[in-house]
Amino acid sequence: MRSPIPDYLTEVLGDVASDTSGAPAGYIPELAVADPELLGAVFATVDGEVYGAGDIDTEFTIQSISKPFTYALALSDRGFDAVLAKVGVEPSGEAFNEISLESDTGRPRNPMINAGAITVHSLAGAADLHPEVRVERVVQGLSAFAGRPLKIDEAVCVSEMENAYRNLAIAHMLRSYNVLTDDPRGIVEGYIRQCSVLVTARDLAMMAATLANRGVNPLSGERVIHEPVVRQVLSVMATCGMYDAAGDWATQVGIPAKSGVAGGLIGALPGQIGIATFSPRLDPHGNSVRGVSLFERFSSDMGLHVM
Ligand code: DON
Repeated sequence: MRSPIPDYLTEVLGDVASDTSGAPAGYIPELAVADPELLGAVFATVDGEVYGAGDIDTEFTIQSISKPFTYALALSDRGFDAVLAKVGVEPSGEAFNEISLESDTGRPRNPMINAGAITVHSLAGAADLHPEVRVERVVQGLSAFAGRPLKIDEAVCVSEMENAYRNLAIAHMLRSYNVLTDDPRGIVEGYIRQCSVLVTARDLAMMAATLANRGVNPLSGERVIHEPVVRQVLSVMATCGMYDAAGDWATQVGIPAKSGVAGGLIGALPGQIGIATFSPRLDPHGNSVRGVSLFERFSSDMGLHVM
């Protein structure tokens, strides 16, 4: 018998499809040419059930959704004290690409904004790794969350690197405070490779389900991270994951979440499910317009508000 969940998802996707407001990210030329009509949603339960509708196997770049997972890897690889010494956990209330450093220490306010994520990238893997080996550690870690080997989209990576003036400026500022201790350009290149990892909505739902399942991928059974790391990551997603829309999100959706400028959006409900949506048109905060609408519907229809 057909499960009612795909029918529900198809219905809700149909309801949001008429909204053509917003636009794909323009500052990365390769993202600006994405098909704006792509639309998909997936639920992945902690028991390993996966339900989806729409464009759930179309690949797109993970972008900022890589940030909570790389934060998890850095916490696992270096320990809490070393990571917290370099990156705070306070919401910045500012856009994702603002500088947002603490004025006395130069410490980025949180790991979800670019300043924090560039620093976190430098903390993945062991200290003193060659930049390419660090990227390999990150891609291997993201793949473990997804439960399949992921690859980098070289065209998106080159396109972002050619226009990375702002991230390079942020990294040089971080280097001046000794928050970064390696060559800033190499770290930004690694961070942009991390953001260029290709995923599908199905992958993102599995990654979110791994957080929901307290660090164990529900399909592969692999323990990717330990529970204290999951708690830290979900807390930071809850407070900082939606940038300067974090307060609206907390009140209207109430699920720890993270967005990316290619149009992906994830939410993780501890002990229950990982949810992922994909639609490339963005609002002024850099969050997917239809993705936010879908999550508002899921939250209200199923009573998922946990914050
Ligand atoms: O650093 C950047 O600007 C991009 N690679 C990622 C930004 C992003 O996804 C922001 N989230 N909505």
